[in-house]
Formats: sequence, C-alpha cells, structure tokens
Amino acid sequence: MLTLVLADCDMKVKPGAIHDENSQPELVHFSLMLANDSKLGEKRELKTIVHTRYGKIFRFEADVEIPEKLEDFKQLLVDTVKGNPPKGVTYETGLKLMDVLDLELGEKIVMSPGGERTNPFEFFKRSKDYVVVIGGFRKVDFISPVYEWADKSISISSNLKKTWSVAAEVIVAYRGCSLE
Ligand SMILES: C[S@@+](CC[C@H](N)C(=O)[O-])C[C@H]1O[C@@H](n2cnc3c(N)ncnc32)[C@H](O)[C@@H]1O
Repeated sequence: MLTLVLADCDMKVKPGAIHDENSQPELVHFSLMLANDSKLGEKRELKTIVHTRYGKIFRFEADVEIPEKLEDFKQLLVDTVKGNPPKGVTYETGLKLMDVLDLELGEKIVMSPGGERTNPFEFFKRSKDYVVVIGGFRKVDFISPVYEWADKSISISSNLKKTWSVAAEVIVAYRGCSLE
C-alpha cells in the first residue's frame, strides 16, 4: 500500500470558496487526477492525504473520481468542508500533520531535492507499505517537521521538479517494483 501525502499545500479552502491568489489548487488537482487514474489506484493500493498549511486534512480513497475541470474539483473541496463530501473523501481540521502521519502504516519517506539521490525504481519494494510525503507548495520548504519524522529523504533528480511529476514517479515506481 502506498500512502501519498501532499503536505503543507498553499491551497486556501474556505466554506464558501477557494481563494485562488497564491493558493494553487491546480497543483493538488493535477496530482490527485493522476493518482486516482493510475493503475495503482485501479488496484486500490493507493490513497492520498492532502494537508494544507491552514490545518485542513482531506483523505481521498483511490476510487474517488476526481473531476477533470478545476472549477468542479474546487467545488468538491468546498462541499467537503461544508460537510457534504463525496463517497471516499473524508475531512478533518485542527490537526497537526505529524499527528495524522504517525497513525499511518509504512516506511516514512520524504521527497526532497536535498535528499539522498535514489532511483525510485530500485528503492521501493511492493511487499512493503510506504508513506511518501511530497511538498504541495511551489516556494521555500516544508514548514511541518517532516525531515525529523522521516526514515529517509529521497531526491530523484538534480533538478527541482513539480509536485505532480514527483507523485507520478513515485506511483509508477511503486507499481512497477519487485514483489520480493
Ligand atoms: C516545487 S517543489 C517545492 C519547492 C521547494 N523550493 C523545494 O526546494 O522543495 C514541490 C515538492 O516536490 C518534491 N520535489 C521537487 N523536486 C524534487 C527532487 N528533485 N527530488 C525529490 N523530490 C522533489 C519535494 O517534495 C518538494 O517539496
């Protein structure tokens, strides 16, 4: 099982609307679309936790169909915060990311350009569970203490990649890795 965590997202979800300015909901949208449309998602070996810098936690099971239009996805989030989530989505607020992650099962990984250079296709073992944290922001670094929490910090490239590209690499590497 792979638990993907989009952490410290800048996205500002209010009960009435999503604030677009510097909020970047599209970054979460892209990542969730590719996660839930992946082969790993099809096999239900994946779930995604979205954590915002403003203390909101959304959990998406792999069978949730993510709307293709950004406006519809934003409406899904707003409805969820208002207490009307679609089946397979749950929402909590007022929790620290680390309290949530401590309850998750699996080896604790943080993806970071400053981490140890690792080939994800060689690293993951399908027989193991992983909780993989990826930053859901564009600038600066994590504000949650993910480096202290993680067993390992992994870099996949000498270049700074987008959140959704790192999510895609991790999902495909975990699906294709050995069952040994
Ligand atoms: C656009 S980056 C955030 C920018 C931030 N300045 C940084 O240095 O991480 C979004 C996230 O993608 C992941 N990421 C980006 N480049 C990576 C790389 N080369 N290796 C591993 N993870 C990477 C990290 O989790 C990062 O927080």
